[in-house]
Amino acid sequence: MKENIISYEFKIAKEERQKRNKHNSFLLWFTGLSGSGKSTIANAVEQELHKMGIQTYILDGDNIRKGLNKDLTFAPEDRTENIRRIAEVANLFVDAGMVVLASFISPYKKDRENVKSIVKDINFVEIFVNTDVEECERRDVKGLYKKAREGKILNMTGISAPYEAPENPDIEILTTQESIEEAMSKVIKHIKPKLQIK
Ligand code: ADX
Repeated sequence: MKENIISYEFKIAKEERQKRNKHNSFLLWFTGLSGSGKSTIANAVEQELHKMGIQTYILDGDNIRKGLNKDLTFAPEDRTENIRRIAEVANLFVDAGMVVLASFISPYKKDRENVKSIVKDINFVEIFVNTDVEECERRDVKGLYKKAREGKILNMTGISAPYEAPENPDIEILTTQESIEEAMSKVIKHIKPKLQIK
């Protein structure tokens, strides 16, 4: 089957779209525990980029799992499939000329490596939102940690399922020490040269 699928070379390529947008496109990948602050920080970064006239799009775990990935559970193989699909979607958006902000627990190192290989190293910025499980559980914004402790949620990351922290992220944010504003500025400062705003 595969050998019968031949890609068509369209005349308008990523470079043309980037030229029109007047900036580069790439993927900002936010990883961290549930309730660590990934979406909050991604939201602040997107608002700032928007102000700068950058074309952006956010892909977020809770939203995507209600649509495209609603057939997936939190079992390890489904999390892997979740991240693979998001990587492919993100890759399309990068090709479309956007700065993509993806916010997923993505607990497995090999899955994050797979994202990097799908979108290519140069288009991938890994942001580790480093909030330890005690703090996430104390905040328990969605009440999920409580449910996990009561055994009402299985495979809860940090409680009954693993989280493999990045060893060498491009950016690390310690939410107990840095404000949302500081975290946002740190990300913007890091990616400014990469944007190559024209
Ligand atoms: S991932 O592990 O596959 O990357 P993803 O980021 O898509 O996870 O979804 C995580 C969100 O689903 C959490 O923020 C939380 O709101 C919700 N959730 C529901 N059940 C679980 C669970 N067992 N473990 C982690 N998050 C869960």
